[in-house]
Amino acid sequence: MAEFTMLAGDKDWWRQAVIYQIYPRSFADGNGDGIGDLKGIISKVPYLKSLGLDAIWLSPFYPSALADGGYDVDDYRNVDPRIGTLEEFDVMVQELHKVGIRVIVDIVPNHSGSNHEWFQAALKAGPGSPERDRYIFRDGKGANGEIRPSELASHFGPTAWTRVTEPDGKPGQWYMHLFASEQPDFNWDNPEVREDFVKTLRFWSDRGVDGYRIDVAHALVKDLKNGHLPERQSFDLSVMKNNGEDDLFDRDEVHEIYAEWRKVFNEYNPPRVAVAEAWVHANRRPAYASTEGLGQSFNFDMLGAGWDAKKVRKIADYNLKAAKASGSSTTWVLSNHDIIRHATRFGLPNGTDFGQWYAKNRFNPKVDEKLGLDRARAMTMLLLALPGSTYLYQGEELGLQEALEIPAELMQDPQFFRNPELGLSRDGCRVPLPWNRTGSSFGFGTNGSHLPQPEWYGNVSVEAQDGVHGSTLELYRELMALRRSLETTEEFSWVNHILSPTTLHFKRPNGWQSITNFGTKSIKLPKGKVLATSKALVQGKLPQNATAWIQA
Ligand code: GLC
Ligand code: CA
Repeated sequence: MAEFTMLAGDKDWWRQAVIYQIYPRSFADGNGDGIGDLKGIISKVPYLKSLGLDAIWLSPFYPSALADGGYDVDDYRNVDPRIGTLEEFDVMVQELHKVGIRVIVDIVPNHSGSNHEWFQAALKAGPGSPERDRYIFRDGKGANGEIRPSELASHFGPTAWTRVTEPDGKPGQWYMHLFASEQPDFNWDNPEVREDFVKTLRFWSDRGVDGYRIDVAHALVKDLKNGHLPERQSFDLSVMKNNGEDDLFDRDEVHEIYAEWRKVFNEYNPPRVAVAEAWVHANRRPAYASTEGLGQSFNFDMLGAGWDAKKVRKIADYNLKAAKASGSSTTWVLSNHDIIRHATRFGLPNGTDFGQWYAKNRFNPKVDEKLGLDRARAMTMLLLALPGSTYLYQGEELGLQEALEIPAELMQDPQFFRNPELGLSRDGCRVPLPWNRTGSSFGFGTNGSHLPQPEWYGNVSVEAQDGVHGSTLELYRELMALRRSLETTEEFSWVNHILSPTTLHFKRPNGWQSITNFGTKSIKLPKGKVLATSKALVQGKLPQNATAWIQA
C-alpha cells in the first residue's frame, strides 16, 4: 500500500463541511472506454480544489455487475477493474488529501451483489448450510415450494423473493432482496456478516478514508423470528412504524451494529465519520446521528419543500434543533444520484409529484428552465448559509438540468426495466458530466459515454462557464470561498419580516446574513455589505427568486 497522509485538524471537520458527491462512472473517463474512473477523478483534483470543498463522497466503485449502478457490490474490499485499481485509489486519496479534501466512501451493508463469493457459495451449498445462513433463504409455500414465501414487494418492484435452482438442478428455495434480484439481502443475525463489515471498515480506514455514507442504513435488521416474514407492498414512510418495532425497517436493534462500528471509527485519529442514509420518521433520525452511533443522519426534508418560504423555514428549524439535541449537525441536500436534478425540479410547479411527472412528461417536459435555475441557485445559497453540512451532487455546480432525453433501450436503472409500466428512472441525473463545449462526450472522455449526453450539454460545460462572471460554476466557487472565510459557530437566528412572509432572512453570529426572496416583488436589502447574490440586484433591490449574502 502506498504511504498515505491523513489531514490534520479538527475531529469535528464534518459538522459544517461541504461534501461533493461523485458518481464515479459518470464523472471523468481517464482511459477512453466511456466509463468514468479513478484516473479521471485524479485528473480533476485541481478542479475539485477550485470548488473549495471539504470532502468528496464517492458512490460505489467496487467490483459489480452494475445491476443497480454499483449498489450491487461483489467485493467490498476492491476496485472495479473498469474503474481502476487499489493503487490508483491510494493515489487518489493522497492527491485529494494534499489539497485539503477528505474522502468519504459508500458502504452498502443491506445486500451484496449476486456475484459476491458468499452468495455464489450459498447457491452451491444448498438449503440449511452455513453459507445460506449469511443471506435470507426460505422455503416457498405450496406443495412443491412453488409459491413465494411472503407477499413482500421489492423497492424496484415487483416481488422481493427470487427462487433459486438447487445444486441438483431442481427449483428450490427463495431468497429475499429488498431491491433488485441481483441484490440479495444479508442476514445480519449472522456473526460472520457482522465481522466482515467491520473488516471492510478497517480496510478502507487503514487506506486513509475519512468517512462513510451508509446505504439504506435502516434496513439491516429485520424481524424474521419464529418463521415471521414481512409482507408489504410499499416502502412508504406512511406504512412504517415509528417506534423501533417495525418488522422491516428502523428496528431498535440496528443501533447495536452502529455502536460496534463507532468503536472502530474511534480507533482512528481523527475518528472516522459516517452518515446514515435512513429513510425513517424524523423522530427516529437522532438515534442514527448519535455520537454512539454513526454520528450523522441525512435529512432529506428539503427535497419536499419546493419553493415555499414557510416550509423551508419549518424544515430548517426542525432539523437544526433535532441535530443539536443529538449532538450532531444536520445535512442539507438538494440533489443526489437517486433524484431528479433540482434545477429541473424548481422549474416545475410546487407540489409536483416528480416521479409521476417524469413518467408522463419526459418527452414533452415543459420545464421553466430559467426559473428552475434561478431558484436552484437561490436555494443553494440559502442552505450554504445555514449551520450544518451541505451535500452537493456532481454537476449541480454547473446548474445542470435533468437529462430527460434518454431512450428506453439505453436506460440502465433497474427501476426502469423492473417496472416498465411505471416509467421511473434515475438515469437522467447520472449522465456523464460535460467538461468541454465540444468533442467526444464533451470532454468526459475520448471515446463516448456510457449514458447518452444531450446536445445542450456543451453549452453548460465547465469550459463554457469557467471564468465567466455570473455563471453557476463561478457562483459556487465564490460561495464556497466566502463560506470558508465566514466560518463561525453553529448558531443562527431569524430576522422576521412580518409584512413580507415570503422573505427568509437569518443571521449567523459573526454578522453574516442570508436573505431570500420567495415573493413576486423585489425587496430592499438589510444594511451591510453585499457579499454575493444569486441574481444581479435591480436598482439595489433583491429580485424575486434570489438570495443575497450580507455582512453587517
Ligand atoms: C440507496 C442508493 C440507491 C440504491 C439503493 C439500493 O437508496 O442511494 O442508489 O439503489 O440504496 O442499494
Ligand atoms: Ca474509463
